[in-house]
Amino acid sequence: MSGARSDNDSWEITESVGATALGVASARAAETRSATPLIEDPFAQVFLDAVGDGVWNWHSAPALPPELIEAEPSLPLQMQSMVAYMASRTAFFDEFFLEATRSGIRQAVILAAGLDARAWRLPWPDGTAVYELDQPRVLEFKLSTLTEHGAEPTCNRVAVPVDLRMDWPESLRQAGFDVDAPSAWSAEGLMPYLPAAAQELLFARVQELSAAGSRVAVEALGPKFLDADARARRRERMDRVRAIMAKVDPGREIPRTDELWYFEEREDVGDWFRRRGWDVTVTPTDELMAGYGRKAPREVEDQIPGNLFVVARRAGS
Ligand SMILES: C[S@@+](CC[C@H](N)C(=O)[O-])C[C@H]1O[C@@H](n2cnc3c(N)ncnc32)[C@H](O)[C@@H]1O
Repeated sequence: MSGARSDNDSWEITESVGATALGVASARAAETRSATPLIEDPFAQVFLDAVGDGVWNWHSAPALPPELIEAEPSLPLQMQSMVAYMASRTAFFDEFFLEATRSGIRQAVILAAGLDARAWRLPWPDGTAVYELDQPRVLEFKLSTLTEHGAEPTCNRVAVPVDLRMDWPESLRQAGFDVDAPSAWSAEGLMPYLPAAAQELLFARVQELSAAGSRVAVEALGPKFLDADARARRRERMDRVRAIMAKVDPGREIPRTDELWYFEEREDVGDWFRRRGWDVTVTPTDELMAGYGRKAPREVEDQIPGNLFVVARRAGS
């Protein structure tokens, strides 16, 4: 899972950006088996079992080598805090969708669905369609794994295999999406993997497809994302861990996840929607985690993504 990006790259679940979906699943699996889980996702471990061991497991269920803990004493705490971050983020988007259905919305669109199992996990009201957009091979892996496991969706789940940098709205319409009915959209764990221009185009398209009464929830990049010092510190930490792991466990190469990200100036997502007349609320990561009783300890708080959780609501008709 190393190597820079290109404009129309694509991937298997175990490669490049695909493997990041497994990383998130491993955090959800760790949270699910913890003593007091904030969210329960019984399917996360099913995906991990299907692909077998790999670097994705190392992120959240690590048997960290003693050499590594000696060199990086805060690593276990940082990893626990990342699991708490992912759990908080999952709970936030779960609540967003359930609240949207309570307001009468019956179309959900999950952009970059990855291994998000909401279409199998949440209590969707009858008649709800959930459109899952992601790369074809990611969606194939997800469906075949869950089908083999005997899992049934709790909604009308519709797979829309696309590249979100390309012209996906037509595929969504052809899959049955109704532009005249309100919809609820999520973009979770997606922004850093899109170039700034593709992010801008994504929101323009979402707005075009959003009837009155629609809602959008986004895990948006905060100002810290582009901060040069924070970036350099993260890279140094990652390289130290990579070097130690290369010695003690050479079969398990640690990826440089930041090689998959686009460090480009972007308009603030809340402002983008506000300027177009949507009602916007923004919750920074630390508030979100504190709200769920999962505040990151001070020693590692600067290692947790400084993202912004944005909800935009378009006025009803
Ligand atoms: C970090 S994972 C997040 C998955 C899921 N939203 C979650 O939170 O569990 C990133 C996902 O974005 C998808 N993705 C990134 N860029 C994409 C693109 N251009 N087109 C389609 N999917 C994309 C990847 O395939 C992957 O499933």
